Amino acid sequence: MQIAEYLLHTDFALTTLHAALHLITLTSALITQAMTNKIKVSKVSELPPGQAKTVSVNGTSVALYNVDGKIYATTNTCAHRGGPLGEGLLEGKLITCPWHGWQFDVTNGCLANNPAAKVQTYPTKIVDDDIFIEV
Ligand code: FES
Repeated sequence: MQIAEYLLHTDFALTTLHAALHLITLTSALITQAMTNKIKVSKVSELPPGQAKTVSVNGTSVALYNVDGKIYATTNTCAHRGGPLGEGLLEGKLITCPWHGWQFDVTNGCLANNPAAKVQTYPTKIVDDDIFIEV
């Protein structure tokens, strides 16, 4: 009788452990998926080379740029006083904030004359004509 009870408890413990491991694996996969959430934000055909535009992603304002056919994304909020970078002038890889003229390299988010200061960038991916960003 004691052996049967022992085996029953052992089996229960193993089943519980297996369920817990499965839950941890599932949670880890969901967290990884959430961290690399790709969201369709625009079409390449709506953003010609040399142009910038602003899109909203889950309530966050993001600026998109087309630099010689390659798409980049940064926060739309200037590091100086919050000007709308997506409404600025894009020359090469530099966006000029429309409020006070600060310039940022859209390929890495760095302030042109002080790379220690930067704005947030987002990875982009193009699928056919669709632009996706990872947030
Ligand atoms: S808010 Fe962008 S330069 Fe001042």
